[in-house]
Amino acid sequence: MAIPTTPLVRRILASDLEASDKEVDEAVMLPAKCYTSPEFFEFEKGALFKKEWVCLGRADEIPDAGDYFTATIADEPLLAVRGKDGQVRVMSSVCRHRAMVITDQIPKPREKWWDSRPAETSGNCGHAFRCPYHYWTYNLEGDLIGAPDMQRTKGFRREDNRLPNLRVEVWNNFIFANFDRDAAPLAPKLEAVDEMITNWNIADMVPGEAELLQDLPWNWKVMVENFVEFYHSDRLHHPICEFSRSNSYEWRDDFDPSGATVIGAGKTTHADFGFNPTFKALFPPIATLTEEERALAVFFLVPPTLAFGVNSDSAFYFLMNPTAVDRLDIKVAGLYPREYPEHPRFHHLEAVAALGIEYFNEQDFGAVSSIQRGLRSDFAPRGRLCWQEQPISHFNRWLIRRYSKALLD
Ligand code: FES
Ligand SMILES: [Fe+2]
Repeated sequence: MAIPTTPLVRRILASDLEASDKEVDEAVMLPAKCYTSPEFFEFEKGALFKKEWVCLGRADEIPDAGDYFTATIADEPLLAVRGKDGQVRVMSSVCRHRAMVITDQIPKPREKWWDSRPAETSGNCGHAFRCPYHYWTYNLEGDLIGAPDMQRTKGFRREDNRLPNLRVEVWNNFIFANFDRDAAPLAPKLEAVDEMITNWNIADMVPGEAELLQDLPWNWKVMVENFVEFYHSDRLHHPICEFSRSNSYEWRDDFDPSGATVIGAGKTTHADFGFNPTFKALFPPIATLTEEERALAVFFLVPPTLAFGVNSDSAFYFLMNPTAVDRLDIKVAGLYPREYPEHPRFHHLEAVAALGIEYFNEQDFGAVSSIQRGLRSDFAPRGRLCWQEQPISHFNRWLIRRYSKALLD
């Protein structure tokens, strides 16, 4: 399907993107309009969010048949559900009759949820989803299995009314879906990252308490850039990030813009560091890590929606879902070795760890919100970059490749 562009989008894309399609020592940032134009965000939905593998959540959120959760990506209401065969499927949740979202509920008395943005839902649907409007019913594969009183409707066939299924891959327990039936498989593109984090055994980790941050007032790319660059560690985060120095960033020559990841990694000043004022991890180090890995801070992206990091005692992820050019929802959660939650003080320690990370987030969120304000200025720069921001230049090259491809499609 052709991706809609407007004259403004075409002007932005014609404005010397090659200047950003370079290694970090030569590159400039993308034009500010890429971060502020609603039309450009519409273009990105087609060029990125409906073309790339988007992470929706974790497979361990839906362990049993009939378990589901919903997510809205690029205005597409979706549901992820575990089938009777154990498979995770992702499908459109838009009813094939008159388009009610089948997982939305009828409001309880005085619960006017349409006044605000309807919340995503989760639960167990039993063996089928029933649309609340006229009771069309779909099984866990998306087949229409019930449509009351449709006998007089000429030529109506249930089999013509299946919920569109997206392609799905589960990687280390993360559910990825792709709207594009022709997209190349994801797993082979994650092999380098897999190798890097193999000793963390991510697939076996269990999630801690997740936090949902909604309507954050900045562009999703500004968040991505902040997540993965080291240049600000010594500066914005001074003095709370003394253990992870900006100049510890490990230069990478292996970036492939057609790949699926952007990696930022560096050695920490000591092993078993922690993002809290003690600079020490609160949980014991993960038993399978090498000495070297216990002193490694790794941040990586599987754009456009997953940002991920590993520490000596845990891992964590940001699930990013932009809802407008300057509105972003993020789900943040930690991941821990399976035995950690049995620790008698697990919840206390986790709460303290979360508080430590909050200090960093407060500083980061202040900076990115201010950047969004600056990007709206007529004087917004296409700034030059420091070598410690190499992952940003990689991300920009990842973007430009897809923007350019979308123009040709
Ligand atoms: S809209 Fe779903 S049954 Fe009518
Ligand atoms: Fe930061």
